[in-house]
Amino acid sequence: MSALSSRDPSSFSNPDEIRMEHIHLNLTINFDKHTLSGHAQLTFVREKPEAEYIILDTRELTITSVRDVGSNEDLEYELAEHVVTFGSKLTVKLNDKEPEHTIEIEYETSPECSALHWIRPDQTLGKKHPYLFSQCQAIHCRSVVPCQDTPSIKCTYTANIRSPPGIKVLMSALLEESEKTEEGHSVSMFRQSEMMPSCLLAIVAGDIVSREIGPRSKIWAEREILDRAAYEFAETEDMLQVAEELLGPYVWGRYDMIVLPPSFPYGGMENPCRTFVTPTLLAGDRSLADVIAHEIAHSWTGNLVTCKTWAHFWLNESYTEFSERKIVSDLKGGEKFRQFLALRGWKILCETVDELGEDSEFTKLVPNMDGVDPDESFSSIPYEKGHALLFYLEQLLGGPDVFEPYVRAYIDEFKYKSITTQDWKDFLFNYFKKEVAEGKLDGVDWEGWLYKKGVPPQKPNYDTTMMEECVELMNRWLNASDDNLKQFKFSNIADFHSLETEQFLSGFADHDPISHKKLVRMGDVYKFKRTGNSEIKFRWLKLCIQARYEPAISEALKFVTDQGRMKFVQPIYTDLYDWEVSRQRAIDNFLAHRQEMHNITVIKLERDLGLEEN
Ligand code: BES
Ligand code: ZN
Repeated sequence: MSALSSRDPSSFSNPDEIRMEHIHLNLTINFDKHTLSGHAQLTFVREKPEAEYIILDTRELTITSVRDVGSNEDLEYELAEHVVTFGSKLTVKLNDKEPEHTIEIEYETSPECSALHWIRPDQTLGKKHPYLFSQCQAIHCRSVVPCQDTPSIKCTYTANIRSPPGIKVLMSALLEESEKTEEGHSVSMFRQSEMMPSCLLAIVAGDIVSREIGPRSKIWAEREILDRAAYEFAETEDMLQVAEELLGPYVWGRYDMIVLPPSFPYGGMENPCRTFVTPTLLAGDRSLADVIAHEIAHSWTGNLVTCKTWAHFWLNESYTEFSERKIVSDLKGGEKFRQFLALRGWKILCETVDELGEDSEFTKLVPNMDGVDPDESFSSIPYEKGHALLFYLEQLLGGPDVFEPYVRAYIDEFKYKSITTQDWKDFLFNYFKKEVAEGKLDGVDWEGWLYKKGVPPQKPNYDTTMMEECVELMNRWLNASDDNLKQFKFSNIADFHSLETEQFLSGFADHDPISHKKLVRMGDVYKFKRTGNSEIKFRWLKLCIQARYEPAISEALKFVTDQGRMKFVQPIYTDLYDWEVSRQRAIDNFLAHRQEMHNITVIKLERDLGLEEN
């Protein structure tokens, strides 16, 4: 089974023969051409003395020369034909048998570069300057830098980036030296001295400003939203401290956040030193800060301990969900709330299996990734099936008091390494030797959990107190007659955490659509129409579409146009497409705005809206 072998099927590279150890970038940002140009110096150490070639991943790069820095000789190279999803293999012939090599590649990225999103001045809040941001996870780094684009190896990086006046540049690294000016351009110098996988390379360039929000944290954003952002994420340091207690010392120096433009396709991205976040987190009441807890947790699980290939991606996300829920509930709500969050996760898992289909390869915790685009296989499965397994094991092995020290030991064991599911399992058995001997793990259906499709073979126990409150309120709505809606008051949800309100709304998906009268009353008393919480708005709009409530179509279209977070945009577009009344409007809306949308989102929507070529 090649999914289980340690070779990365998502990369052409040969790190087992010669391994990339450091990247130095010297690049200019060309906003007019939508390119980065300059050179990358890559340092390699030989793993096998007989290695003759360095094989690198690239995508849509124009390469003009490859040189050996030591001997200053040009090196022979061959750029293979473009392969869909994976790009072009670059083979560089080595001219000697030295144990270390630094090569310099002159190149330019393409305006279609899949990792970079270029934004016109009129699309920014400030309207004056253009903006650029990257998203390299999972396999887009190769479209920015020729490299061994696989999480199985880690390297450090440095960068000198030239940018036009008025533009601030940030990377997933520490700023080494503040800008100096060269021919009207600024040059910013960065250094990431911790080893990290290529998917964590990141860059932002735009007219952004910052504010301190903690001893090691700044928030960066366009000035128009800086106040809101500073308020929203004020709990960051508290979260970092809980995380350190749970997971060990924070090694990345700073933990800054950058609020990106609305087209950013994810909720958050754990780029080292600088988490990228969507502006849809700016709810006004700090209610969506769980995403920050999640990205903070990745500083250990994902960024220090990393999956070896994308088949083992669950190792990154499940531990991160686990820690996120621990951090959030430690700060507020306690164990009862953690149980509620975990049970919500189980429900999301069941819904996702339902959506993907019982027979989908991607419902496996460890899927076969041969020939698969990691963006295509992305879903809640690695997050929630993985979390359910950890939660299940925690209970089996004796609860948080036993499991939390294990999590810390696991991080200590594998920090700076990339691991497979087998490595994970071996360490678990080793750490819990005593419990294993006592037969505590005998009942675990490992094959079922790790390698079988569908919902897990075993279900953890969950405290259902908080979940029941959500279900109770939903049942009251389902059972009420249309003439008896005055009974509902805002006080029904006044004490709910926003995640309980979300859960209340999500529950309706399993039932027949509610009447328009109920919908209107609910929107009024619970103030859903005016909510600043994007998660609640999302679920509210889904409920409106499910109820076939036509006045909501325009609002749903506006929601998927004003922001581009895939978690929201994809399901709403799909729902609108599945309803004949809104289908054409959804397609027209997508076509009118696709130019401004992020390429990852466009690819997914083209498929969902039946617009795929060929
Ligand atoms: N690293 C992920 C985002 C990601 C995964 C990007 C795979 C590309 C490929 C990030 O940490 C994440 O999980 N974000 C979630 C946050 C949530 C689970 C709290 C998101 O974007 O919604
Ligand atoms: Zn994550």
